[in-house]
Amino acid sequence: MKIGICSDHAGFEYKCGLIDYLGSKGYEMADYGTDSTESMDYPDVAHPLAEAVEHGDVALGIALCGTGNGMAITLNKHQGIRAGLAWSTEIGELVKRHNNANILVMPARFISFDEAKKITDSWMNTEFEGGRHQRRIEKIPVKA
Ligand code: RB5
Repeated sequence: MKIGICSDHAGFEYKCGLIDYLGSKGYEMADYGTDSTESMDYPDVAHPLAEAVEHGDVALGIALCGTGNGMAITLNKHQGIRAGLAWSTEIGELVKRHNNANILVMPARFISFDEAKKITDSWMNTEFEGGRHQRRIEKIPVKA
């Protein structure tokens, strides 16, 4: 499975660590930036990741910034994206089980790297429950 990942400067080190962590588990990783801890603007990497998920270039996405909110706000502007912010393994699980988040967003400045790995695992290893949750996510997109 191919997974896209992006971060701003605040999430850069966790992004590099997650690329290594998920790569060692056999996932193919596509890195949408940023490339250093130099200050940058999160929409510049969030939009390309969202488009990659919407177009099916990658199956799922992961995004990190300081609070996670800049990434989540930007990613969720895309109609085909359900970007869910998670800061615990329970939320990581629920954001897949209930919301079928196709991009996981994490707040790098408020969790440890070990927590980031565990949250990623909880999201990736959980199945969407469907049923009433399918009906709910179908009501999310804004109609033209
Ligand atoms: C960067 O200082 C910070 O604003 C950014 O990482 C993120 O938290 C924005 O939502």
